[in-house]
Amino acid sequence: MNKKIAPSLLSADFGRLFEEVSDIEQAGADYLHLDIMDGVFVPNISFGLPVVKALRAHTNMIFDVHLMIVQPQKYIARFKDAGADLITFHLEASDDPAQTLRDIRSLGVRAGISIKPGTPAEALFPLLPLCDLVLVMTVEPGFGGQKLMEETLDKLTVLRREILRQGLSVELEADGGINAANAHIVFAAGADTVVAGTAVFGAADRAEAIAALRS
Ligand code: DX5
Ligand code: ZN
Repeated sequence: MNKKIAPSLLSADFGRLFEEVSDIEQAGADYLHLDIMDGVFVPNISFGLPVVKALRAHTNMIFDVHLMIVQPQKYIARFKDAGADLITFHLEASDDPAQTLRDIRSLGVRAGISIKPGTPAEALFPLLPLCDLVLVMTVEPGFGGQKLMEETLDKLTVLRREILRQGLSVELEADGGINAANAHIVFAAGADTVVAGTAVFGAADRAEAIAALRS
């Protein structure tokens, strides 16, 4: 299996964003994970559309946008215009997740949906045919640098099995507290892709950090 790594910009040096992005691009990262927080869905505010747009002008990396915002349906077209390749929103934040997934796909962008640690995997089963990606949060969303909650990993296994049972090809991504010491259990549980903020941007050698997550 091809293990993908998506460094989260949240842990980058915000005073040198463009250099930080070039650095992980050269280091062989698969996606750039962009955590958008509104201070309402999660108790933190990160960055928004202008930052995504500014970075888009400087890199061809795949932009994996993780919306931790209320009413995500209102913003998907603007994130597409800003340069998102993949837009993931939270099941818990959406009144009509099926429609939002369809709307994202109709923009020509890959559609993802995410669940917080307290939300069961089964809540996503009926939506899987509409998804290109499922993002399982392995910490409570809102902050980088937290400890992985191992009890969330079963959901990757359950979702992997259900994706196969339905005959679909949905990418499984895990996000939060993933580092070189635990990435192997996250991949073994069923993830195709892991997000890592601290483990990549906190390292002096990002290529080495990415390789360590894959090994
Ligand atoms: C948390 C974010 C994550 C986070 C990952 O709400 O969705 O992407 O930044 O950071 P680390 O790898 O430091 O847990
Ligand atoms: Zn994220």
